[in-house]
Amino acid sequence: LTKVTNKHLLPVYNKPMIYYPLEAIVDAGIKEIMLVSGPEHSGHFSKLLGSGEEFGARLTYKVQDKSLGIAHAISLAEDFAKGEKIAAILGDNIFEDRFNFDDFYDGAKIFLKEVENASRFGVAEIANGRVIGIEEKPSKPKTNYAVTGLYLYDNTVFDRIRNLKISARGEYEVTDLNNSYLKEGRMKYEILKGFWTDAGTFDSLLRANILISEKAKQKK
Ligand code: G1P
Repeated sequence: LTKVTNKHLLPVYNKPMIYYPLEAIVDAGIKEIMLVSGPEHSGHFSKLLGSGEEFGARLTYKVQDKSLGIAHAISLAEDFAKGEKIAAILGDNIFEDRFNFDDFYDGAKIFLKEVENASRFGVAEIANGRVIGIEEKPSKPKTNYAVTGLYLYDNTVFDRIRNLKISARGEYEVTDLNNSYLKEGRMKYEILKGFWTDAGTFDSLLRANILISEKAKQKK
């Protein structure tokens, strides 16, 4: 499916996949957006999304030359962020919830969703209303709370990424980044009410299509 274009441009019901996360953050009030993609089909994003005007956003494009992970992709936005706090969203994450980031000031914030197959995701352990640990794709998840692909970070994020070590799968892991906030007690969380799915595997892509088509029919 990705021989001729990027995974995040495949259709999910009536729109390219990338529209969903893009619209989610624009709805939350974020208008200055840097889109980071691998080099293979990077031009396809600007062809589709242009300046971002159609979405009410200003888009900047950046290429991540090597697949070094999500935390590395975030690091490419350091100059763009100009010392401000940032939101990061993964191009294959589809949220039903709508967001408001007004209560976010410092530290970091993650968004959790109860799922059946938690071992495919970052999994959060919660005790006394706090996240006490996140494990990346554990074979025996301690909870069913998946860490979804939306993250809020204060401006310490780039220094933290510089201190990360590369993981066994050869990436700078967003879970390690999140755990650096967590260790200092600077991680907040919210549990999502609506559906959430990634769309990055054949089965989750099918699920995303079904969820969105059902929602579209409900609206009619
Ligand atoms: C990534 C993150 C994982 C998170 C997931 C959400 O997984 O590493 O923690 O739960 O996104 O979609 P990946 O896309 O690398 O499988």
